[in-house]
Amino acid sequence: MFRRGKDEDGMTEPEVYFESLFPEDRELARIEESIRERGMPEISVEPAYGRLLTLLAAATGAKAALEIGALGGYSGVCLARGLRAGGTLTSLELKPEYAELARANLAAAGFADKVEMIVGNAADSLEKLEADGRKFDFFFIDADKENYPAYLEWAIRLAEPGAVIAADNTLLRGRTLNPDKQGPAVRAMREFNRRIAQDERLIGAHLPAFDGLALAMVK
Ligand code: SAH
Ligand code: DHB
Ligand code: MG
Repeated sequence: MFRRGKDEDGMTEPEVYFESLFPEDRELARIEESIRERGMPEISVEPAYGRLLTLLAAATGAKAALEIGALGGYSGVCLARGLRAGGTLTSLELKPEYAELARANLAAAGFADKVEMIVGNAADSLEKLEADGRKFDFFFIDADKENYPAYLEWAIRLAEPGAVIAADNTLLRGRTLNPDKQGPAVRAMREFNRRIAQDERLIGAHLPAFDGLALAMVK
């Protein structure tokens, strides 16, 4: 089938069933192909969660979205599709060659004028965005997992009231649930997940399908 390799291992029957209902998305399939042919990691957000990002950005009328972790631009295209007219996507990416591919894929999808790609360590980029007085109304956290708690704090600091935060991979392929796993990324993700559930500045929710997705609204 045309779907990505990682779907073969461990999609549940409900995940397979619902995924099968959607038509092929040629634009996103081309992006996955561009990632594959460069030998980059095939870790774009799940199609189902990409659709959810588009839906949420559109439903909330997102005007200034911030993505942490661009890879090849798959989630960037999903976010950009949902932006309201005149809206912009700012995307932070560590690796220049990934940022370049993401930029090219976003341009090919018609979003060249809506996207600001910032290359470098996200922590530095976030500091600069704050110093510049930037605010955002939609966040997608999907970069280095050990910094998720820090990225959540940054998102809250840079948030307009009512901003939505989404974060990928809250289950870390099951490691989050495995008490034998105590590495820095796993511990950070458990802390992140607790904060989504308990932080009084947020209305939080967790979706357990696929590799887990956290959602929150900043009150
Ligand atoms: N959001 C993308 C997938 C991102 S994969 C999508 O769904 O299409 C994670 C990305 O985070 C990789 O591209 C990786 O290079 C980037 N990354 C890792 N550590 C980072 C850091 N400290 N700062 C910025 N980006 C980082
Ligand atoms: C993996 C998947 C991701 O979506 C990600 O952002 C990082 C890593 C993985 O499956 O290894
Ligand atoms: Mg991810």
